[in-house]
This record gives sequence, C-alpha cells and structure tokens, in this order.
Amino acid sequence: MSIGILYERSETDEMGIKLTAEELGINLVYIPFRKVAVRLDENGYSVRSKGKNYSKTFEEVKVVLNRAQSKNRRFLATNVLEAFGKNVINPSPVEYVCFSKLRTLLHFWKGEIKTPRTVYVPCDSHEPTANGGEIRNEEEIADLMQQELENGSIVIKPDSGTHGKNVRLARDRKDLLAILGETEPSIINPVGILAQKLVQKWFYDLRIIVTKENGKAPYCYPSALARAGFKDFRTNTFLGNMVFGVNLPPHIRDVAVKCGKTIGKDSKAWLLAFDAMIDVGENKNSNDEYIKAEFEKLELSFDAVKKIKGDETKKRNFLSWNKRLEETFQNYKNQEAYGNIKKIIEESVERNRHNILFHEANACPEFWEQTRLVAGINLAVPLLKCAQSIIESDYGG
Ligand SMILES: Nc1ncnc2c1ncn2[C@@H]1O[C@H](COP(=O)(O)OP(=O)(O)OP(=O)(O)O)[C@@H](O)[C@H]1O
Ligand SMILES: [Mg+2]
Repeated sequence: MSIGILYERSETDEMGIKLTAEELGINLVYIPFRKVAVRLDENGYSVRSKGKNYSKTFEEVKVVLNRAQSKNRRFLATNVLEAFGKNVINPSPVEYVCFSKLRTLLHFWKGEIKTPRTVYVPCDSHEPTANGGEIRNEEEIADLMQQELENGSIVIKPDSGTHGKNVRLARDRKDLLAILGETEPSIINPVGILAQKLVQKWFYDLRIIVTKENGKAPYCYPSALARAGFKDFRTNTFLGNMVFGVNLPPHIRDVAVKCGKTIGKDSKAWLLAFDAMIDVGENKNSNDEYIKAEFEKLELSFDAVKKIKGDETKKRNFLSWNKRLEETFQNYKNQEAYGNIKKIIEESVERNRHNILFHEANACPEFWEQTRLVAGINLAVPLLKCAQSIIESDYGG
C-alpha cells in the first residue's frame, strides 16, 4: 500500500518531498501525468507511456500527493485519480475552490471571514459580434467598479492567476480604463473582471499554512511566511521580495483554521496555504525610512540567496545545492536587520490582528526554498502525514 507523488517536472519541492520521505522511511512512488495515455473502456483503465505501463503502479497506490503545477492539469489529475478510487491531497472539492479566487472569496465571505472588498462583473471588456465587429464595455465596467469601490485605487486580478501575474493597480479612472482594455478572457481569467479595493497593507503580507490529517482537527502552524518589500504593491516572492518568518497571534491562527474548515469542509485530509493581508492603514509601529534602510542592509545577503535559488546545478546535485541554500539562508537570517524587520512585522501583526483579511487559498504551495528555511515548516512532512493518516484509517496501516 503506497503513497504516490504526481508532477509534471520535478522541481526542488518535489525533490524535497522525496528526500523527506526517504528520511522518514516512507516509500513514495512516482505517478506521471503528462506524456501518458489514460485509457478507459469496458475492461477498466490503463495508464501507459510509450514505453512503460504504469497501470500496476496506479493500482498499488492509495493516496497521491498531487504536485502538478498547472492548475488545470492538477484539477484533471485529481478527477482522474479519484475516479480510479484514489485519495488525493488535495481532494477535488478543495482544488475546485482554490482554482478560482472568486470562489475562494465567496467561501470566506459565507464563513464570515473578513476579505478585501471584492467586486465581480461577469462581462468581458470587449466582445466580438457576429458580423466581425466588437462591443467595447470598458466604460460601463469602470462605472460599475467605481460605483462599488469608490474612486480610490482598485486592484484588478485574474480569477485563477498565480505569482502576481496580471494583478494590476489602477490609481485613477484613466489607469482603470487602460487596464480593463487590456484584459482578455484566458485560461487564467475565463469570464469577466475581478477587482478589489486596495488594502492599505503597509509593506508586507502573510502566507499561513493550515493542514488537516484524517481523524484530526485542522491545525494552523504557529509561524508564517511574511513577504515584504517596498518595490511593488504586490508582495509575491516571485517578484523579488524578501521573506521573513514571523510568529502569529492566536487570534489569527484561529481565523486561519476557520478558513481551512470553510474550504476543507468534509474532506479527510488537506493542506492549504492562505494568503492574507493586514489592513494596517495608519497604525504603523515604525517609519518607512528606517525600514527601507534596514532592507538595504539585507540586500547583499538576500542577493546571495537569490543567486543560489537560480543556480542551474540544483537539479543535478540536489543535496549539495540544498546544503548551500541552507547556509546562505542562515547567513541572511543572522543579519541584525533581518531581526529588526521581523520584529516590526510581528508587532504590526499583533497590533492589527483584528484587521486581517484573507483573500486566497493555494492548494499546491511552494515551500522547499522558502517556507521551510524561513518559517521553519517543511511542508513535505504534513503532506506525507496527511497521506499516511488516510492509509492508516482506511486500510488499517
Ligand atoms: N486588494 C488588494 N490590496 C492590496 N494588495 C493586494 C490586493 N490584492 C492583491 N494584492 C497584492 O498582490 C499580490 C498578488 O495578488 P494575489 O495573491 O491575489 O494573486 P497571485 O499572487 O497572483 O496568486 P498566488 O498567490 O496564487 O501566486 C498579493 O500577494 C498582495 O501583495
Ligand atoms: Mg497570492
């Protein structure tokens, strides 16, 4: 009875899961989901690549860690695996909600969890007509957005985008019309326009991990990843922001567990990373100039981290690369400025804990290169525990 891991390409997260499984003595089986033929007919199913038959592997696996990076492939993989009788981390109801930011926000809202004010207009900015012409809807959409979000800054985002891609800020109507004009229905933004009021979140936001093993209550980790910087209103690490490990106040952990329950519902086991912003407004516990100067002091040591992260040898020589990554992160974390900024964020979070807004749930979070080394959470461990908890209860170990 084994645990499977499914992915398109093995990145450091997947190598990290394999390494962790090895250290824990867990047998982990690779499940391909790209250049394979999944066949269904009256005799059952088969999964074969050109040279290899994976059907037996599929049969032996009871739980699969779904690490497909593309949301679409991941969702279909879940559907296929569940139809074949497998348990998947995360299960399809969870993936379904996480797939869409609007669906996630609707669930939070129903669960009475505070979110940024959100407006959805189910109409595209330009629509082709039957005679080859085009209807332009920007002005009307802008009117609707400004009617609901007032005339302040507006954030436009694709419903199922990632890495901050096409998340854009309109400071006035001119910006808004320009941004709306450039939106296109696409795989990451199927229908209409999703927008939010700009949250006054100062210079950081939070990524909070909540997980549930079969038979246990959901658990929120006591520390979180804060992504911080003054360069852009988006704080995604993908855009080069710095990262800090911060302790969470009990109130925020409670709300995060509530978020987990709202999305996990009856599913046996799951692992989610929630994105949250704190509406700090003017309630700041330090001044921007001081913090910016502290960020500057960290630049050298964080550049070293980025350099190692971008190192091409990481896949070929994972273990030695990983050791260098750990050392470089340790050096970054040892800087006095790191401690100073971390302290400011923690104080700010504590002070404004009741102004936390949750806005996104990630079903396949990255972790090996950051969450593990900064917040001290190796997500491979809870992922494997989730899988084991299902095997133990459903199949008697
Ligand atoms: N309403 C908002 N007000 C202020 N900042 C926002 C708002 N919405 C998003 N942001 C900033 O933009 C970043 C990206 O937005 P969001 O998290 O919604 O999408 P994403 O990052 O593309 O998705 P993923 O986290 O899956 O990669 C957030 O991390 C946050 O810093
Ligand atoms: Mg995000």
